[in-house]
Amino acid sequence: MKFKKITVLTLITMMIASILTACETEQPLLKDKYAEYYNVGVALSKNTVNSYSDEIMTNFNIIVAENEMKWESIQPNEGQFRYTSADLIVEKAEELGAEVRGHVLVWHSQTPSWVFRGDLDDVRERMFTHIENVVGNYKGRISEWDVVNEVLSDSSDPNELFRQDSGWYEACGKDDDVFIQLLADAFKKAKEVDPDLMLYYNDYNLNQQIKREKCVTLVEKLIESGAPIDGVGMQGHYDYQGLNIQDVEDSMDAFIELGMKVAITELDLSAYTWNYSGEAYSEFSKEQEKAQAEVFAQIYEVARDRKDDVTSIITWGVADDYTWKDNFPVMNRKDYPLLFDVFSEPKEALNAILDFE
Ligand code: GLA
Repeated sequence: MKFKKITVLTLITMMIASILTACETEQPLLKDKYAEYYNVGVALSKNTVNSYSDEIMTNFNIIVAENEMKWESIQPNEGQFRYTSADLIVEKAEELGAEVRGHVLVWHSQTPSWVFRGDLDDVRERMFTHIENVVGNYKGRISEWDVVNEVLSDSSDPNELFRQDSGWYEACGKDDDVFIQLLADAFKKAKEVDPDLMLYYNDYNLNQQIKREKCVTLVEKLIESGAPIDGVGMQGHYDYQGLNIQDVEDSMDAFIELGMKVAITELDLSAYTWNYSGEAYSEFSKEQEKAQAEVFAQIYEVARDRKDDVTSIITWGVADDYTWKDNFPVMNRKDYPLLFDVFSEPKEALNAILDFE
């Protein structure tokens, strides 16, 4: 009898001890761990806004809409503004107590062709109307906007500053000076509508030297033109095998040197190198997950080293069940680029970015 009592007591003690240990080793929330550094966030879409548990979502304190605030979503036809889908994302962020990053006001893609009809005055007027309406609609609820996205050219020619296939650039007769004025006007208008906003220029491959230099030139010219620009968004669609972290650091430093804040706005680390043409990976192995986690850790670390100037790191999605990388650059090829896996379980990457003193 006595023996039984002792056994039960021992069992209870062991259970309490293991519960206590579990509590002690429970991971902190990402946003708490990063409270003194920068915001940590994710992109949500109308398809994923309710896909993930509160337990996951409460890790984040900044949210961006994947597509719902793009021109074609908000103003598909001239003068017809639709906020229903974008509102879903904003309301979700508010429920989480997270900030909202607006994406995007001026972009060549996902913008209806009617925007570019007529002459430059017509196009500029439409740009103003759009900014007044959209920024005005979310005034006080959105803290920062990508005012301009992806105007820089990918050409290796350093003298070709701007991408050629843009309706905005064409409306300016492909004249660089005229175009810079137009972009500066966009920044000025956004600031006029909501003076409290942080305003960003956002682009991909800004880690690459040639594009970094073009971005520096653009920011300098925007500042000269009186554009109230606060920061540069480095999108961060990388692959974990191909990224040289020094390039990311050099770009951050180049932009910070100009007085810019820096955000990594669309981070994902593809399982595939850019030119990979083999079979799709039917699963992401533990080794791959570990190697990817190291690169995630490096990115969050170099950003921590610049915490006074880095404002946020945002991944372009939450979990590997839903990522645009499944269809880019190769259609229907499963990718694994995010912090949570296809079952919404935390990946090594999440542990790795939480692992610092
Ligand atoms: C670019 C854009 C984003 C999104 C991604 C792909 O990075 O800035 O809005 O379209 O491409 O999802």
